[in-house]
Amino acid sequence: MLKFSLGKWLGFAFDNNSYLLNLLDGLFASQYLSEGKKFVDEGILSLLPDEESYPEVVHQAMHYSLLAGGKRLRPILVIAASEAVGGDRKAVLPFAVATELVHTYTLIHDDLPALDNDDLRRGKPTNHKVFGEAVAILAGDALLTEAFILMTRSVGMESISPERLLRATHEMATALGSTGMIGGQVVDLEAEGKPIDAETLEYIHIYKTGFLIRACIRCGGILSGATPRQLNSLSRFGAHIGLAFQIIDDILDITGDEKQLGKGIGSDLTKDKATYPALYGLKESRRKAEELVEASIVCLEEFDGRTDPLRQIARFFVQRTY
Ligand code: IPE
Ligand code: IPE
Ligand code: MG
Ligand code: MG
Ligand code: MG
Repeated sequence: MLKFSLGKWLGFAFDNNSYLLNLLDGLFASQYLSEGKKFVDEGILSLLPDEESYPEVVHQAMHYSLLAGGKRLRPILVIAASEAVGGDRKAVLPFAVATELVHTYTLIHDDLPALDNDDLRRGKPTNHKVFGEAVAILAGDALLTEAFILMTRSVGMESISPERLLRATHEMATALGSTGMIGGQVVDLEAEGKPIDAETLEYIHIYKTGFLIRACIRCGGILSGATPRQLNSLSRFGAHIGLAFQIIDDILDITGDEKQLGKGIGSDLTKDKATYPALYGLKESRRKAEELVEASIVCLEEFDGRTDPLRQIARFFVQRTY
């Protein structure tokens, strides 16, 4: 814990925006993220149906996209929010893993020819390129369904009451449905090739990406007994960083490195997608994302040092290059 208290001490000594503080946050974030990724990856391997299970092809397709890579940010956010309110990462692991299954399903479907028609994901050919569209659709469906099996299973989450599990699962389902992530994806498709207004653009980004990110943070809190006040703060924090995350994703589609990102660059421009850089330009988009992250950190003010990882992850959201 020394590292986090050091960061906190420096917080008094330096202005919040100082270069040094950002650098330290970046270092601590990368340690928290790499440890979190390792923990989540082990969980995925132990909780996912075996690749050799019959019918093999769908299980292979699920494993292919899930284990191709990925930052594991959503399960790490479940864990970080849970720890922020005094929870234990082991106690929420199946739920955290479930959010990565859900996220991977959204990526497989997002890449399909009928949606973004992309060829590269997590440094590998997209799921439909390898397994064909039909299996890719079904593998996505299976990951989504499997996620809800994990969220509602008591084995491995014995310390969490059925009432909290039900509440968190309901929360996750709501974030993913037609008035959540799917809604955002639908409007994203409708907006292709058309002039975009600020309100619709904000809707797309909040719904297609922000809702799942916010739900992961809220669910971590719910599962570990956040008070209504804490949940409200976590919620506002999640809403801010969720939008910032998609703005940076748009920016990286222009300025990123294909090898580092593991997905094709310029994909949004090719399809004339509704993006922040398209409406506001690169510089103003980055300014907006940075402003959102600074505002997100203010939402955590009333918590103690246990939210340092959340704060550091928030900064990583805008500093990231992958
Ligand atoms: C990409 O998400 C899709 C968006 C919602 C922008 P990530 O950048 O978290 O992708 P992985 O999981 O690391 O591959
Ligand atoms: C993805 O948005 C949102 C979801 C998958 C729900 P993008 O289409 O911008 O994500 P990338 O750039 O393909 O990862
Ligand atoms: Mg898309
Ligand atoms: Mg896409
Ligand atoms: Mg994108």
